[in-house]
Amino acid sequence: MEIKTYKDKTEVAKAFSSYFAKAVSTKGDFHVALSGGSTPKLIFDVLATEYGDKIDWSNIHFYWGDERCVSPTDEQSNYKMTVDHLFSKITVPKENIHRVLGENDPTAEAMRYANLLEINLDRVDGIPQFNMVILGMGDDGHTASIFPHEIELWDAQDHCVVATHPESGQKRVSLNGAVINRAKEVVFLVTGSAKKEKVKTILGKEEGFKRFPAALVQPNEGELTWFLDEDAAAELE
Ligand code: 6PG
Repeated sequence: MEIKTYKDKTEVAKAFSSYFAKAVSTKGDFHVALSGGSTPKLIFDVLATEYGDKIDWSNIHFYWGDERCVSPTDEQSNYKMTVDHLFSKITVPKENIHRVLGENDPTAEAMRYANLLEINLDRVDGIPQFNMVILGMGDDGHTASIFPHEIELWDAQDHCVVATHPESGQKRVSLNGAVINRAKEVVFLVTGSAKKEKVKTILGKEEGFKRFPAALVQPNEGELTWFLDEDAAAELE
């Protein structure tokens, strides 16, 4: 595991964008699962502005680690956020964008998406393998849409699960732990002082840290990199 710390979220966005540009420059298709949240928003802006014409987007296939069960035009939609901040500014073939259909019945959609992953991705031990899974971490230690109150979903049999946001009750479709940990590479993007306690607990492996889904991200064979800003890393030793 590697921890990279930068001055602020703009620096994180710049560093990750350059890292991503390098990662996707290898030949062949590159399958990436995106996350929602505020940090990716800035990253997508930087990627579009600084790498829009430098990256060959036609080799990249986009998926989501989680999606809110809302329509694709809803402000809550992770897909919409990605359209607004990235896809609307770059040239990417429509058939490379594999969104979770948040407007459909969550259980049926989780099954459809799991099936789509099985078809589109290589499988290792029966588990679809992404080239890269990008994750955020919530203030409560959740990742993708696996929340602490439903941590058992991490170990669910199905590649995709239906989760419920603890406060709003909003349904979400999320990858399970096996798919996340099967990726060739997992990247956490975590910024802001609201994250500093969980960052300390999880990266410091403090007592009880495994209660937090973000602590269960331990790729089987792939690499794990945490991109932090100084606010999020403030309490790390
Ligand atoms: C989502 C997410 C979620 C997010 C974290 C961190 O759709 O809500 O994918 O797991 O990444 O909540 O979000 P922030 O970057 O906004 O703190």
